[in-house]
Amino acid sequence: MNEFQQIPGISLSYKGKVRDIYETKNQKYLLIFTTDRISAFDFVFDDTILGRGVLLNKLSLFWFNMTKDIVKNHIVDIKELKINELGQESRDRCMLVKKTKVVPIEAIVRGYLAGSAWEFYKKTKMIDNKKSNILFKQFEKFKEPIFTPSTKAQKGSKDKNISFDEMKNLIGDQLSETIKDISIKLYNFAHTFAIKKGIIIADTKFEFGIDEDGNIILIDELFTPDCSRFWLYDNKTNTIDYNSFDKQFLRNYLIDIKWKNNQIKFPQEIKKELMNRYNLAYDLLTH
Ligand SMILES: Nc1ncnc2c1ncn2[C@@H]1O[C@H](COP(=O)(O)OP(=O)(O)O)[C@@H](O)[C@H]1O
Ligand SMILES: [Mg+2]
Repeated sequence: MNEFQQIPGISLSYKGKVRDIYETKNQKYLLIFTTDRISAFDFVFDDTILGRGVLLNKLSLFWFNMTKDIVKNHIVDIKELKINELGQESRDRCMLVKKTKVVPIEAIVRGYLAGSAWEFYKKTKMIDNKKSNILFKQFEKFKEPIFTPSTKAQKGSKDKNISFDEMKNLIGDQLSETIKDISIKLYNFAHTFAIKKGIIIADTKFEFGIDEDGNIILIDELFTPDCSRFWLYDNKTNTIDYNSFDKQFLRNYLIDIKWKNNQIKFPQEIKKELMNRYNLAYDLLTH
């Protein structure tokens, strides 16, 4: 039981991997409550990390505000809901948003060759679904960021990488072009901003929705260490520390222990290290 169940006119509508989504009676708004749950490789653990939800929520709010001139986003401020009467802890975890029809695509933008794109390149020598004539090294920066969409899988199944043409087949040419265009703009903006603060956003994922007037709206979370790959960048020496400051840290731990898709308790020092990294990224970006 949390405080939201006590707000009149709101009911729990959906439990995501990390977020609990409440809906207003008129079905116009959602109250997104970011829990301390941990998910990795699309698996949700029973174990939680204290303070994770607040950090993710605050960082998303920061970025939604920073990027509001590039694209409309889902954040709303409705006084009637009396969110301000909630305790500080709940308020810091929640955002009130416009409910949209979710576009079933994960809009992924990559500025550098890392993660699953690097694994794929090693096997196929393909970048962005095309055979590449140029040889790439791991972590190499692309001349221009690339757009590598995936499907947004239903609960329990895994997202699947798709080509831009497949994306067009799924959601239409015009919407695909617009989403790609906005995604690249958002990435370029945030990359330029973050690098000055000592963070490289190597890649990231956006979600979009369509509102009742047919507008494209940026939804979900934004440039958090859960949906992006962060590296530390030293402006003075122009060097990058490729040690992950994002969820890759947790994935690496699971790979190290040869995790078998089962519920586990994370060691205290792993939780602490993850939060130290997330907090450092937050502090660098927002100060
Ligand atoms: N403005 C919005 N309108 C409709 N759905 C949204 C909006 N913002 C986020 N969502 C959805 O809410 C869910 C957020 O919870 P999360 O735990 O991140 O879920 P998931 O397991 O799908 O990643 C996602 O499924 C996301 O698509
Ligand atoms: Mg999510």
